[in-house]
Amino acid sequence: MIKIVTIIGARPQIIKAAALSRAIKNHFSDKITEIIVHTGQHYDKNMSQVFFEELGIPEPNYNLNAGSNSHGQQTAQMITGIEKILLEINPNYIILYGDTNSTLAGAIAASKIHIPIVHIEAGLRSFNKAMPEEINRIMCDHTSTLLFTPTLSGLNNLTSEGFNKNNKTPYNADNPGIFHCGDIMYDNSLYFKTISQKSNTIISKYNLKKDNFVLSTIHRNNNTDNPIRLNAIFNSLNKIAQQNSINIIIPLHPRTSKLLNTNLNKELLTLIKSNNHIKIIEPVSFLDMLALENNCKLIITDSGGVQKEAYYFEKPSIILRSETEWVEIVEQGAAIIADANEEKIIDSYNRLTSKKKQSFPLLFGDGKAAEFICETMLATQKTYS
Ligand code: UD1
Ligand code: UDP
Repeated sequence: MIKIVTIIGARPQIIKAAALSRAIKNHFSDKITEIIVHTGQHYDKNMSQVFFEELGIPEPNYNLNAGSNSHGQQTAQMITGIEKILLEINPNYIILYGDTNSTLAGAIAASKIHIPIVHIEAGLRSFNKAMPEEINRIMCDHTSTLLFTPTLSGLNNLTSEGFNKNNKTPYNADNPGIFHCGDIMYDNSLYFKTISQKSNTIISKYNLKKDNFVLSTIHRNNNTDNPIRLNAIFNSLNKIAQQNSINIIIPLHPRTSKLLNTNLNKELLTLIKSNNHIKIIEPVSFLDMLALENNCKLIITDSGGVQKEAYYFEKPSIILRSETEWVEIVEQGAAIIADANEEKIIDSYNRLTSKKKQSFPLLFGDGKAAEFICETMLATQKTYS
């Protein structure tokens, strides 16, 4: 039996962790004991608790209640809490997802006391160190013992940074094992797709018609905190809705909701609020989100997870960033990077919606990343030097 400590904190991590917890429950319950630590980075019911209920994730064993704060204060509080728990439990592995401050806190706490780190969603790079996430993911990759890449570009990024694909056990932070396993989020989308079609409430609630509305999410700090960028994004959404008479539904992250009044110019805010085609709503549950993604015509987003889910559901997407870590979907022509450039966002909408045919070859594995990760942890855990 091995013991693992899973660190979650932000919405996408809670969702990703569901796939691993499900795999453990269904296939490895006699071999792996999971202890879940919620850092409390996200805490509103619709940013956290809703996912535990809906995705059947076990209640966290610990909650650090870190909440919102500056990067330094938030991360420091998490490091202290995680270190204490790791010392108490002494697990075989700590499991870290993605690139948030909760990920970084786990990496710092564990690496200093030599708890082997498993990084799920390793190797992604935006090559933009102004992004807090880029710092977090590089730090986590470079302290990890087992790294699991969701895409081939992730694997290539690691090898070009000096990680060796042919490393032999025993693995440790100086001799890490890198494994390409596909995307754990894809596991969830496949698993919950049919369930979401049956049990979502959102499509009828907002009277949405299949392939006849746009879904948008905006939360990236350089979009929300920069009034020029935020105004350009909302201007383009307003124009797309008007010019095409199409509904745009925007489940808005609390970060963005809190900044609309201060960072959007007053006239635009009034236009948005009076535009019957635009519906700004609270963040939705995962099953509702999958239903929106599955039924919409196109997705406009700055979210990493939502970009990928657009591709899983074979929907074109417009990326509100100047680059993406998920380069494969852009290379396929399924997504366009439009940054926060009003003209480019509108032009991308027109290009993507007038395109006759778009293929969506499988790029993110076989939906069994979680099982692969569990098997690999078990196969390598006795081999520490
Ligand atoms: C974090 C991650 C980001 C990820 C996103 C997923 C970092 C540096 N960023 O960004 O990579 O894409 O989560 O959603 O870790 N807030 C609430 N209620 C909540 C949570 C947040 O109101 O439950 C508000 C607070 O005003 C807070 C702000 O959102 O200050 C930002 O939250 P924070 O967790 O610091 O960063 P995110 O922007 O959510
Ligand atoms: N998501 C959700 N409800 C929402 C918005 C997003 O369930 O209102 C899900 C979405 O389906 C995806 C994940 O949250 O699985 C993406 O998280 P987010 O956009 O917050 O962060 P990122 O992926 O950019 O780090």
